[in-house]
Amino acid sequence: MSSAGVEPAASQAAIESAAQALMSGQLVAFPTETVYGLGADADNAQAVAQIYATKGRPSNHPVIVHLATPDDMQAWAKHLDQQAWQLAQAFWPGPLTLIVSSDAQTGTMITGGQTTVGLRCPSHPVARALLAEFARLKRQAGAVRAGVAAPSANRFGRISPTNADHVRQEFTEAIAAGLLVLQGGASEVGIESTIVDLSGLALGLPVTLLRPGAITASQIEAVLGQPVLAPTSESPRVSGSLKAHYAPTTPFGLVDGKDLDATVTQWLRQHPGCLAVMALRQAPRALDNRVQWFCMADDPSLYARDLYARLREMDDLGVAAIICQHPPQGLAWDGVVDRLTRAAAAFEGSSR
Ligand code: TXA
Ligand code: MG
Repeated sequence: MSSAGVEPAASQAAIESAAQALMSGQLVAFPTETVYGLGADADNAQAVAQIYATKGRPSNHPVIVHLATPDDMQAWAKHLDQQAWQLAQAFWPGPLTLIVSSDAQTGTMITGGQTTVGLRCPSHPVARALLAEFARLKRQAGAVRAGVAAPSANRFGRISPTNADHVRQEFTEAIAAGLLVLQGGASEVGIESTIVDLSGLALGLPVTLLRPGAITASQIEAVLGQPVLAPTSESPRVSGSLKAHYAPTTPFGLVDGKDLDATVTQWLRQHPGCLAVMALRQAPRALDNRVQWFCMADDPSLYARDLYARLREMDDLGVAAIICQHPPQGLAWDGVVDRLTRAAAAFEGSSR
């Protein structure tokens, strides 16, 4: 296996074979600018069922449909408000998923049995080439629409993959059985797309943010000229909002920057093992040799880009715990703070 980020992006020939594989009902793992996805023809119920089986994911969780162009939205939505077009124009192709009312033809495995569907046009060149070639083949076969259903390419509950090696670590058996993995280097955004729910607009309900990401609520508000609210208990299910979602397997705790040194010292006093620290500053000069110190970027985009690769790296060290310095306040950090808070919530109550 080559090291992350240096492997060449998939060739046109590899992309064409992958589009053919999707046509014949097989799964394909592919890069996007957010995280890698595990894709299937969204109009092939058996292929979509394979995604759930491969991930070990509960079958009532909806999946995002990836589209080649914004115009393709029409074929998947029952009704599109002008706000959907405004957001698509402003942010697609890119790391934004729109939840809209679903067309009646869309399978319940895509919608999770709800009346909505999640749509996204990714910007990664390999994803775009795959989606375009798949759409061409579907049209040639007489289909009226083409979409690739794809959750993140990780086993359920695990950290999302941000390079092809991560995907290979997740699905060793499926890959041995023929699962194709398209390469595309390290995902630039590094955390999953922002999800914004527009499905209530027709009923006069507000726009809600279901999952924060690189595109912030205030950027969306600026385009729409209306507020974007936090989700309520009536909002549709998002598996990423489950408590234990984005978690490493190593106990993970979040602490304020001012408490970091004291927490590390106390942990070392109380525990015999080794510790990883994810901080926003360099390691102190006299660092205990049981501590592995990771200095994260003091910039939300760079932090997000490296986050999942770092968490995997720390998980693989076999340390007894990870202590993470809480990032600064501010809207631009919302996506990162959301993932870190969920990771920590998975270990609430356990000793660090
Ligand atoms: O960046 C991303 O969004 C990546 C890449 C591969 O595109 N995909 C991704 O998929 O993160 P997944 O399945 O791991 O997370 C998508 C989230 C899930 O939590 C799912 O519940 C939610 O989107 N979702 C999908 N369709 C929905 C719908 N109709 N209503 C509400 N939530 C939906
Ligand atoms: Mg996921």
